[in-house]
Amino acid sequence: MTKTYRGLTAFAAAFGLATMAFAHGDVAPQPVNTDALPDVGEEWLIENPYRAAAAGDEVWWTAVTIGDSAYNQNCARCHGLGVVSGGLAPDLRFLEAAEYGDEWYAERFQHGYTQDGTTKMPAFGEVLGQKAAWAIRTYIETRPEDGALDAHTARLSAIRDQLVGGSGDQAVLKEELMAIALEVKTASGAPVADSAAKRAALALDGSPEGAKHASDALTIGLSAAH
Ligand code: HEC
Repeated sequence: MTKTYRGLTAFAAAFGLATMAFAHGDVAPQPVNTDALPDVGEEWLIENPYRAAAAGDEVWWTAVTIGDSAYNQNCARCHGLGVVSGGLAPDLRFLEAAEYGDEWYAERFQHGYTQDGTTKMPAFGEVLGQKAAWAIRTYIETRPEDGALDAHTARLSAIRDQLVGGSGDQAVLKEELMAIALEVKTASGAPVADSAAKRAALALDGSPEGAKHASDALTIGLSAAH
């Protein structure tokens, strides 16, 4: 017992420390695996290279999903979960999805922000690197605007129930979800939003697992909307 017990105590201690560090806002940057994204070179760009128009839909979507976890591990504690700011730091959803917004974004990401000797935002350029920077940027700019799903809540929960119950033609539902996804607007002006409708549509592949992933995406999206 002693060995396991000691292991558990060490674990609990480490966990407690991590929690304390978190409470004090002093958190080490979380590494981001960006291997699945195309390289962008050493020199810092001033425009997001992972937009669908420049890199294609597949790269764009990969950037959104990598950016999602990278953002929520490194930025959310100040800028808000899902990029909905609670007032501690600016709401990044409104940063224009164009070169002007990108340049400003890249500047802050690389160097952070210090005021009167106090670090308000740490620098991330060296620790996370450029690919992670643009993946996070892609995620941020595809956030749906507030209330974007409101008009569709009833229909989306009906679809969710159908998927959970194993009824409904997946191909038909997928098409309907895609149509709903296209109506969702971003606050940044980016042409396509990431949304629960979109994630659910992409998850549907005719299999029971696909239906499960899709209904989970809808459940998460619908609860976040409330
Ligand atoms: C410790 C808190 C903190 C963390 C963590 C943090 N930021 Fe910030 N960020 C701030 C504050 C505070 C500002 C406002 C600085 C100012 O007054 O210009 C800011 C400003 C910004 C801006 C400029 C926004 C604007 O409208 O001018 C961008 C872009 C930005 N942050 C991106 C990020 C990204 C991306 C991450 C994660 C990789 C991140 N930040 C992590 C606190 C933080």
